Amino acid sequence: MKIGLLIALAIATFSLCATQPDWNSYKHKALVFQKRIPGWCTLEKAEKMMELIHATEPEICVEIGVFGGSSIYPTAAALKYFKKGVVFAIDSWSTQDCLEGYTLEDPDFEWWGSVDLETIYLDFLAMLNTYQLTSFCNVMRLSSQQALAHFTDGSIDILHIDGNHSEAAAFADVQMYVPKLKQGGYLWFDDVNWISTGKALQCLMDPERFVFEKERSTDTCFLFRKI
Ligand SMILES: C[S@@+](CC[C@H](N)C(=O)[O-])C[C@H]1O[C@@H](n2cnc3c(N)ncnc32)[C@H](O)[C@@H]1O
Repeated sequence: MKIGLLIALAIATFSLCATQPDWNSYKHKALVFQKRIPGWCTLEKAEKMMELIHATEPEICVEIGVFGGSSIYPTAAALKYFKKGVVFAIDSWSTQDCLEGYTLEDPDFEWWGSVDLETIYLDFLAMLNTYQLTSFCNVMRLSSQQALAHFTDGSIDILHIDGNHSEAAAFADVQMYVPKLKQGGYLWFDDVNWISTGKALQCLMDPERFVFEKERSTDTCFLFRKI
């Protein structure tokens, strides 16, 4: 009877180990796939985002500004590894929202005016299917302002702000979403080297409200912990 139980336990342990690769092999494989996804997330940032999930095993993550999925993929893939948590993918994939706040002369105006966001959106959905990430990524095709009401205050574990980069929009995203972040929760803020994101960044560089996690940041994407 005892021997039977031991054998069953050994088989269960073996099959668990056989189906779940170790974290580092899983992460490196995911980072190879990540390179193929359209967007701007660097390998360094993708790895740091995955490592944050590994260290904190969050329940609720939110990304504002998804585009083709290059920066949400590392988060969703890491959640899948732990079979726990969800990332809300907030993006309107709307040309009008992308042009908001830019003048006609701005090169970004021309770029965002010409990109086919419908195709980017459909390819993003297909990517989630391909990598079997749909259970870990909840797509919200809404503007950041429209999506706000779906989240209660202090509910988000990890937030990534990478939406419209005009001064007013980046500042508004920080103002709207910081109250939604848990105490002790993390906030990635992208493109800190843009002049237009400076006003929003200034709010985050407040040592009474946030700890700047320098070691976990990259040169252009800073990580903050809410106090
Ligand atoms: C810089 S891209 C995101 C890049 C992506 N995070 C990556 O690393 O590849 C900005 C995205 O923000 C979205 N966006 C622009 N204005 C928005 C708004 N008001 N609400 C939600 N998403 C918005 C755009 O559709 C676009 O996909």
